[in-house]
Amino acid sequence: MSTTTTVVDIAPVAEVQKLSLRAADPSESKPEGKAPEQEYRYAHLLPHFSEDRYPPLEPYEHVDPGHRALQHPNPRSFLDTAERVIEITPQLGTEVRGINLAELDSDGRDQLALEVARRGLMVFRDQGDFINRGPDFYLQWGRHYGRLHIHPTSGHPRGYPELHLVYRDGKQSFNFEVDDSITTTVWHSDVSYELQPPGLTTFFLLTAPPTGGDTLFTSQVSALKKLSPQFVAFLKTLKAVHSGVEQAEFSRNGRRGGTVRRDPVEHVHPVVRRHPVTGDEALYVNRQFTRRIVGLKREESEAILRLLYDHIDKSADNQARVRWEPNTIVLWDNRVTAHSANVDFRHLPDARHGARITPQAERPIPALEGLDLSA
Ligand SMILES: [Fe+2]
Repeated sequence: MSTTTTVVDIAPVAEVQKLSLRAADPSESKPEGKAPEQEYRYAHLLPHFSEDRYPPLEPYEHVDPGHRALQHPNPRSFLDTAERVIEITPQLGTEVRGINLAELDSDGRDQLALEVARRGLMVFRDQGDFINRGPDFYLQWGRHYGRLHIHPTSGHPRGYPELHLVYRDGKQSFNFEVDDSITTTVWHSDVSYELQPPGLTTFFLLTAPPTGGDTLFTSQVSALKKLSPQFVAFLKTLKAVHSGVEQAEFSRNGRRGGTVRRDPVEHVHPVVRRHPVTGDEALYVNRQFTRRIVGLKREESEAILRLLYDHIDKSADNQARVRWEPNTIVLWDNRVTAHSANVDFRHLPDARHGARITPQAERPIPALEGLDLSA
């Protein structure tokens, strides 16, 4: 993926706090609309770019909570009291109303991990209680699912480097974005360049534009199933390099907040991975971070990756789209899905401000047993 080298002026964060912001909770909106100087309810969660430096991540042993849920006689019982449970598509995504995620006990959180693994994506509406409990609660929530990833370049709330923030408004963006493309769609699995990329991931918006800014998801399990058995058998023998270098360069060039707190890394992952709990096999390449297939000639690698990316891009029959009504929390399993922001609102003055809780999972397990993952 190419990015522009254009450097935009980035206002100090203090100025961000005075910008016109529409809170995700409609009760926060003034009747007359914009109130440029009003105190922003989520000012404490605006992106801060510390100059801290972090050492390389150490390996850690991930125990997936979904395994515990498998022992439960009814691992979907956490949904028993829901008002509505709707499958967004047959392949991907479940939308739920009437469950307060913040009140789930440890067993319920385990079950949630299993259900997100099975459905790839879950959308929970009416989660104001969760969102308003604040950053200490977000960390406590995320740690149930694994060691929290600290992003090497993104903005975080002051004092909370484990929370990854997205922020864009009509004047500026602190996101990793492509400016010289005909589309803002960039399918990816979050920070797949890490040795242990994330599994269950939680994301919500604090502030949303009145229209636009939906998030797109696709099932990498369904994408794999569409391919011929002969081709899948070949793909399972392959491994690919995932790189964080370009994302770091984006920041080093003065974009985002201009900081790189941990040296960028590259790691080799299987092209087809197996989910540790469900056993589902999923494509694990993405246009944003995957760079080349190990051991193939350049043209071979490029042709295969292009074919897979085109397949991911255009297969709407694997995809789901989430509209951000206020107080929505979305969870996806980064091991079996890909997603893309949809920056169709960049001409609008409205802000889009969100937070992600990103526990790391296991090192990707090859679908082909015994695949050597050394580079
Ligand atoms: Fe993402």
